[in-house]
Amino acid sequence: MKRKFEMDEIVRYCNQYGFIFQGSELYGGLANTWDYGPLGTRLKNNIKDAWRYYFIQSRENSYELDSDILMNPTVWEASGHLAGFTDPLLDCKGCNTRHRADNLLNEYNSSMNADFMSQEEMMIYIREHKVPCPKCGKSNFTDIRQFNLMFATQRGVTQDSSNTIYLRPENAQGEYVNYLNVLRTMRAKLPFSIGQIGKAFRNEITPGNFTFRTIEFEQMEFQTFCKQGIDSETYEFYKNYGIRFFEYLGLSQENLRFHNHEKLAHYAKEACDIEYLFPFGWGEINGTHNRTDFDLTRHQQYSGKPMDYYDEITGKKYIPYIIESTYGLDRIFLALLFENLHEEEIAENDTRIVLNIAPKLAPIKANILPLIKKKHSNQATEIYHILQKMMMVSYDESGSIGKRYRRGDAIGIPLCNYNR
Ligand code: GAP
Repeated sequence: MKRKFEMDEIVRYCNQYGFIFQGSELYGGLANTWDYGPLGTRLKNNIKDAWRYYFIQSRENSYELDSDILMNPTVWEASGHLAGFTDPLLDCKGCNTRHRADNLLNEYNSSMNADFMSQEEMMIYIREHKVPCPKCGKSNFTDIRQFNLMFATQRGVTQDSSNTIYLRPENAQGEYVNYLNVLRTMRAKLPFSIGQIGKAFRNEITPGNFTFRTIEFEQMEFQTFCKQGIDSETYEFYKNYGIRFFEYLGLSQENLRFHNHEKLAHYAKEACDIEYLFPFGWGEINGTHNRTDFDLTRHQQYSGKPMDYYDEITGKKYIPYIIESTYGLDRIFLALLFENLHEEEIAENDTRIVLNIAPKLAPIKANILPLIKKKHSNQATEIYHILQKMMMVSYDESGSIGKRYRRGDAIGIPLCNYNR
């Protein structure tokens, strides 16, 4: 008998085995921040390596970038984030809790979709239907205000708005503002891609579900620059490529689905998410967008620098279209734990935890366990030192052999796990 883990068990497991700890735990924590421990860091790095292999190394004309988190603030004007990267918020005057108006309505009436309502329509609906606060039950809200999700900080010594800069809310803009640099230095020809792994920050008003929605997270973003006309087929290709990538990581097909967007972002011609079936429901782990020539056209306008591509075959210049496929690293990490972590009953009243993760992702690849310490430890240490040059290995000579095997099973070590 195998039993999957629930969310609270995953959180405990991560803490117990050194995958994820509460951020700033020593000082009582900081809500919705998480620190990856030694095994979590290994697993995260292995997911990144798998992504690098799948998106950079094994593809033609695909280049990796590592751009700065802090960017010239005009980038965020050009991208539309300063004006439009907002959530509609309102406060309950009864208990001082803050809510997203669209979430409030969707939860109040599950048959409606507030995503399609304007700010005014939401306010009228809340007042007319006396929608209650989920915390105190009163219906006494402030007006809706648009709340920008970007974290602002100050550059330099004076507290002056001209020094305000932002922690990036997405990786993508770093790839767009370096498009000409990559084109020039890699002598790239369309279609080509720029990928980047890095942190993004969002002042989310409703974070939660462990690492699913946090204020600091990591994205693996992949932008393909192509000619208008092949944009839709490129978009279809990367939607499907995403499913193949998830299968390559070991997520099963029945837990994955596409969710096509009906309401499109201002820059998108077509958009789709890949969702994973978490214990709390379907949740987005990837998004693919046809962003048209919106971003490069805006950067051309705001920077004054031409962004067009010279097509040697046709002799014409044009601004490429961008197909973006972006992956949430922390969410994929969580999905992999839900997919692969089980409690198994091996005899009456005897269970063991097994992390049945793909060997390429396993934090530790081999477990060296001398059966009898006095007798085998010299030879075992020798083997450990040989293997250590090639892979992550662990050495454990303390406690009963059964307990040592169990720990290896629990953290997904593929070599030396008995019963594998
Ligand atoms: N450049 C496009 C972009 O950023 P997004 O759908 O807002 O698109 C991409 O984010 C991915 O980043 C999502 O599919 C999700 O996996 C992850 N993500 C977004 N917000 C997140 C958050 N608050 N916490 C953890 N992961 C998040």
